[in-house]
Amino acid sequence: MSEILLDIRNLSVSVRESQYKKNILSKVNLQVKGQNILGLVGGSGSGKTTIGLSILRLLAPALKTEEGVILFKGNDLLKLSRKDMCPIRGKEISMVFQEPLYAFNPVFRVGDQIEEVLIYHEQMKRKERKGYVLNLLEKVGIPDPKRAMQSYSHQLSGGLRQRAMIAQAIAANPNLIIADEPTSNLDVTRQAQIMDLFRRLKTQLKLSILLVTHDLGMVKHLADEIAVIKDGTVVEQGETRQVFNRPSHLYTCKLLEALS
Ligand SMILES: Nc1ncnc2c1ncn2[C@@H]1O[C@H](COP(=O)(O)OP(=O)(O)OP(=O)(O)O)[C@@H](O)[C@H]1O
Ligand SMILES: [Mg+2]
Repeated sequence: MSEILLDIRNLSVSVRESQYKKNILSKVNLQVKGQNILGLVGGSGSGKTTIGLSILRLLAPALKTEEGVILFKGNDLLKLSRKDMCPIRGKEISMVFQEPLYAFNPVFRVGDQIEEVLIYHEQMKRKERKGYVLNLLEKVGIPDPKRAMQSYSHQLSGGLRQRAMIAQAIAANPNLIIADEPTSNLDVTRQAQIMDLFRRLKTQLKLSILLVTHDLGMVKHLADEIAVIKDGTVVEQGETRQVFNRPSHLYTCKLLEALS
């Protein structure tokens, strides 16, 4: 059995709206194992993105972490200073979003933005970096990596843009990728291709992926484990096959019914 890479215990996050305080996450427990894909599924507004942002300590100022620990390789990320988080973001843990058009700056070339990650996290000479970026774009299955490198993000199709963002996310060899609805804006064929890519990268790069999605079908094919979240609480986590065959929570049964 692989060991636990990310261990979230009793994480509660609240938001203050005028004089009211509302819990967005309530005592969330979640574990991502090494070289595993964990599918995090749940309805809209259940707190999936908030979990991802909590891990990277990127919560909006209105949100407050009330309690809990987020152990990554045994260290509590919630106890790290802002400065100590910098080498973790992008280097150890990176994030892939739903809409890469917003993740890339429109006025810089895609290749240069991927290179930025290497400038920040890796010690490489300029020529070596350019070659490395080309190699990354090839690795994520972009057919004409030279062209993609020179392009601005709006010049790439949605599928290629998503691949380019994944190239950026893996640039510094992270252990964990948080992918928040990474295929929601793509058509079914592109979705399947990105799923294949994640599966391949998991093995090739010994990656763990926290895959946030509404899409149980995607999770069924891709994830080693599933966690189900409802109203800010993880109601069950287990091996994908086991959760699909023998869901232990009524809410999971309802989600599965909706799929069939
Ligand atoms: N900055 C904020 N201020 C106030 N409320 C917020 C803020 N960010 C999130 N919330 C609330 O927290 C809850 C959880 O939001 P979150 O974005 O984590 O849900 P989600 O599961 O990712 O939803 P979706 O599937 O629609 O992306 C929602 O009720 C949302 O309105
Ligand atoms: Mg979300």
